[in-house]
Amino acid sequence: MKASKKATMMVAASALLAASAWTIGAFADDRQGDSATAAPVSGADAQLVERGRYLATVADCAACHTAKNGKPFAGGLGIESPIGRIYSTNITPDKSSGIGKFSYDDFDRAVRHGIARDGSTLYPAMPYASYAKVKPSDMQALYAYFMHGVQPIERANKATDIPWPLSMRWPLRFWRMAFAPEVATDDPPVSNDPVARGRYLVEGLAHCGACHTPRGWGLQEKALSDDGKTYLSGGVIDNFLAKNLRGDQKDGLGTWTQDEIFAFLKSGRTKHSAAFGGMSEVVENSMQHVNDADLTAIAAYLKTLTSVNPSAAVLTANASATDKLRAGTDRSNGALTFVDNCAACHRTSGSGYESTFPRIALSSTVNSNDPTSLIHIVLMGGEMPWTKTGPTHYGMPGFAKRLTDRDIADVLTFVRTSWGNQAPPVSAEQVAKVRKSVGAASQPKRPENN
Ligand code: HEC
Ligand code: HEC
Ligand code: HEC
Repeated sequence: MKASKKATMMVAASALLAASAWTIGAFADDRQGDSATAAPVSGADAQLVERGRYLATVADCAACHTAKNGKPFAGGLGIESPIGRIYSTNITPDKSSGIGKFSYDDFDRAVRHGIARDGSTLYPAMPYASYAKVKPSDMQALYAYFMHGVQPIERANKATDIPWPLSMRWPLRFWRMAFAPEVATDDPPVSNDPVARGRYLVEGLAHCGACHTPRGWGLQEKALSDDGKTYLSGGVIDNFLAKNLRGDQKDGLGTWTQDEIFAFLKSGRTKHSAAFGGMSEVVENSMQHVNDADLTAIAAYLKTLTSVNPSAAVLTANASATDKLRAGTDRSNGALTFVDNCAACHRTSGSGYESTFPRIALSSTVNSNDPTSLIHIVLMGGEMPWTKTGPTHYGMPGFAKRLTDRDIADVLTFVRTSWGNQAPPVSAEQVAKVRKSVGAASQPKRPENN
């Protein structure tokens, strides 16, 4: 093969890969509650617009299309990819800078097929592979809402920061052809089965798999619907593990009841756990506004997912770590670091305080093989989401400046092997890697790490 042709193909291949490797970053924003409408509508149309508003909340379109401190849906939020930043677009009905001139078909092509109005392919940072599952009648409602329920804002779209030739969009077409699923042309038959409703929401509008499903060689989600093993079995996004949601007892939702899943999605916490990282925003901006019937359906569907690893050990509580901590007989760096920095909130028993400080004994988060989330939260701290049903807002401080990579590795290894927890140790190298990628402060200087 001629060198130039080979080079072109390599560029194409790397653009293809890199452009699909986005991180859904920095969603925290001060969304403004503007509800002024573009063109008022009445009667049946108004109902359609309201339904579209609800569906847009389930789909969390604002998470990406509203910039920090920006006007609702006016775009401009930067989404990182390894080759440069991609900006979300203005999807308000403004005729010049937004989607005001989009016909229903233009809108449908963008949202479900990933094809822009000019025929080019959208970056899969726009989760059209999930939205492909949205039924046509819901698409009509979404379109009605975006045309008539959203205030038009004039705000020009920003080109990506991706340099040429990686910025060429044509390789994306191959990604789309390889990985985007079929789009439904008709609504499915009406059903009253909550599990079917839950599946529809989880796979489609709510795009849970965009974070919770592991990705393959092209950074595509390995499964877009339940395949009995990989779907929703855990993926890393933005330096957090969006953990396994399948039926595994140890690291999935096997020990959670349907009511606990419901409570978690609605309020961002259960008696024992709390949402953090990207999930905090999913709860705050989307799930807490979902109606009870739909949340029940989502929880019911999640409870149908079988475990990935049915032979994993079932965890049982063990008090020996608690006893040693109380007696002061465990003098290891991990135990001492825990007592000094963590026990005030999570307690020497690891049981935390109900609905205030999450339990870390026998927690599926703590027992996940991949420790990324744990390292991240210890370095940077976390804040529970603000919700109507869980208005108290507790936080955990970050320890980046106070603890070395070794200390964090030791304390997490201690946590992951105490009270009945059974997860692999954490190394200082793993901590150093996350410290770098989240941009945390450098570790404190101590004589022993020179
Ligand atoms: C996870 C982030 C994310 C979510 C959630 C999301 N989008 Fe997008 N969307 C994007 C990005 C990024 C682009 C631009 C992609 C590009 O430039 O190739 C985009 C592009 C679009 C476009 C094409 C606009 C144009 O000007 O060509 C439309 C229409 C759109 N999104 C509508 C929606 C709707 C409606 C929802 C909710 C149902 C939604 N998006 C949810 C990230 C997202
Ligand atoms: C933007 C990425 C993202 C999306 C989208 C997302 N999640 Fe999450 N989710 C996470 C992360 C990260 C965690 C780990 C932090 C935590 O436990 O709160 C998580 C944790 C969870 C947990 C807690 C599990 C446990 O054992 O503690 C549940 C339940 C959950 N997600 C359900 C869902 C459902 C249902 C959806 C779709 C409606 C969804 N998530 C969509 C990122 C996401
Ligand atoms: C001031 C009280 C406080 C201290 C001190 C503290 N935490 Fe936390 N921790 C919290 C709160 C509150 C959350 C929930 C944060 C959220 O939802 O974003 C949390 C969450 C966690 C989680 C995630 C639990 C889950 O499943 O939801 C882990 C793991 C954790 N802390 C470990 C530690 C370790 C290790 C230390 C010591 C290095 C520590 N914490 C110190 C209050 C604290």
